[in-house]
Amino acid sequence: MNLENEINKDKLPKHLAIIMDGNGRWAKQQGKLRAFGHENGTKSVRTTVEACAKLGIEYLTLYAFSTENWNRPKLEVEILMKLLISSLKKELKTLQENNIKLHAIGNLNSLPTSVKKELLEVIDKTKNNSKMTLSLALSYGSRDEIINAVKNISEKVKNNIISIDTIDESIINQHLYTQNIPDVDLVIRTSGEHRISNFLLWQIAYAEFYFTEVLWPDFKEEELIKAIISYQNRERRFGKTSEQIK
Ligand code: IPE
Ligand code: IPE
Ligand code: MG
Repeated sequence: MNLENEINKDKLPKHLAIIMDGNGRWAKQQGKLRAFGHENGTKSVRTTVEACAKLGIEYLTLYAFSTENWNRPKLEVEILMKLLISSLKKELKTLQENNIKLHAIGNLNSLPTSVKKELLEVIDKTKNNSKMTLSLALSYGSRDEIINAVKNISEKVKNNIISIDTIDESIINQHLYTQNIPDVDLVIRTSGEHRISNFLLWQIAYAEFYFTEVLWPDFKEEELIKAIISYQNRERRFGKTSEQIK
């Protein structure tokens, strides 16, 4: 039986977030340089994006580069930035054909000008697409995002635009990079690591987690479907008892 048929289309995660990990180890296994792993990782990005759009996932967020990743060797950072530009150029067509809107979260001002320019161009060209929103987390750190939100809210309090009493979850949400994007339902992390690495800490408060040993360049549609089936077999109780939600 085709695995995809086992997915319940009415119970899809609305927001899927993926920590794409393991490119370096994948390359090492083949006796190649890390860059080779990153290049092959972009192929998994394309297949995953297309598969999610086809399934009907509304929001897909991909962790592509963290604030901590700036601490990698300079050459690796340069390679990743170049790869980003070439992928954006190449995948514009994929986004248009699949009616996908591109969005980015993170400290975009810290990206090289050439990357930012290409990114904003693709965001602009896809802004009217409506099947799926693809958010790329670039120079993204959850703590950085929270600090940024606290600063912006404080500024508004200082200028009497909002009062302290009205600060609630929705105000916080509106000041995060993910404003207008719903909370994460499912997080997938590849490569066997069981950690969050500063990703969407606020937004994953009630997310389900799926960890797989598969390295990111080997992550294909079948693994995605397995993760979704696992998600669909869980009971999300949000603090209530099992009986209450039946
Ligand atoms: C994920 O793969 C890509 C980025 C973090 C940019 P890694 O480069 O972290 O691969 P490993 O973890 O070293 O195998
Ligand atoms: C997390 O992967 C960041 C991305 C996938 C972009 P890392 O490979 O940087 O994570 P740690 O540092 O090993 O936790
Ligand atoms: Mg890693």
